[in-house]
Amino acid sequence: MITLGIETSCDETAAAVVSGASKIISSIISSSLSLHKRYGGVIPEIASRAHLESISFVVERALKRAKKTKEQIDLIAVTRSPGLPGSLLVGTSFAQALSFALAKPLIEVDHVQAHLYAAFLQKKKPRFPFVGFVISGGHTELFYVKDFLCSTLLGTTLDDAAGEAFDKVAKILRLGYPGGPAIDKISQQAKNKSVSFGCARMKDSFDFSFSGVKTSVLYFTQDARKMKSLTNKDIAYGFQNTVVDVLVEKALAACKHKKTRTLVIGGGVTANLLLRKKLAEEAHQNGIDVFFPEKSLCVDNAAMVAGLGSWLYQHKKGGK
Ligand code: KG4
Ligand code: ZN
Repeated sequence: MITLGIETSCDETAAAVVSGASKIISSIISSSLSLHKRYGGVIPEIASRAHLESISFVVERALKRAKKTKEQIDLIAVTRSPGLPGSLLVGTSFAQALSFALAKPLIEVDHVQAHLYAAFLQKKKPRFPFVGFVISGGHTELFYVKDFLCSTLLGTTLDDAAGEAFDKVAKILRLGYPGGPAIDKISQQAKNKSVSFGCARMKDSFDFSFSGVKTSVLYFTQDARKMKSLTNKDIAYGFQNTVVDVLVEKALAACKHKKTRTLVIGGGVTANLLLRKKLAEEAHQNGIDVFFPEKSLCVDNAAMVAGLGSWLYQHKKGGK
């Protein structure tokens, strides 16, 4: 089965062709990030206009690279939600029109679940059930996933998402947008690794709160600027370390709570090197198998949408 995936939930216009439920034949991502940079965040109106301008081209390109014609598509999968309403509307309208014109089935998928599906696009696939952890600019959500038709939310952020905290701290440190990659990069050059920040632990809960740590960084930075021995690199390192510790702690606690030895993570923040390193080390020590998507599949892409769409279509058809 050949599935065309379409993703337009935020600032990436993406299309991909996937064979079966996991073989990526092509994946095209066009980002409007450069248009948002000067504003320090994604501007919804600019994002939806950029989707409108590039969606036809991106879909054509994905098909061309996959050496498939529109008629060879068996299924169209599109991100339904969550995301920016105007941006989602461009993707879903385009997919609906294509589905109608070609008389091909259409399946709408959840963007957050699609981030978890990214790990299934790799050679070594996770087994159900697992604890799924989506860490992105809009989400910090822990799930217990029996399968993609049945998952339970274990915890979520009560304020900022982890990626949002990276972006806001990067703004404080004047590192530009998006902040995650910049913080990841400069923290590796930190000389003073003694800086640390308090972060709400939300004891006995799988919920998160990152707005406090962001405020701590703001106040600390105002003082630290007077202290000549500390640099932005040291502060970025301290912030990243604090957030990563909380993410790793909760992820492992959720696995323990659900008596699961499989942890699947996804979302833009999953690209963070320290997070990958710490999670891999601690999971190994606790006998947990952790599945990271490769870096190109951590950020928003349409291959994860096509893959999940194909999986759902096949399993729903199976009468589940
Ligand atoms: O999944 P994604 O592309 O879009 C959403 O669905 O939100 O995630 C984007 C988020 C941004 O907040 C960005 O700063 C963060 O992921 N991010 C990172 C890294 N790369 C991207 N955060 C920390 N370290 C990174 N290397
Ligand atoms: Zn995303």
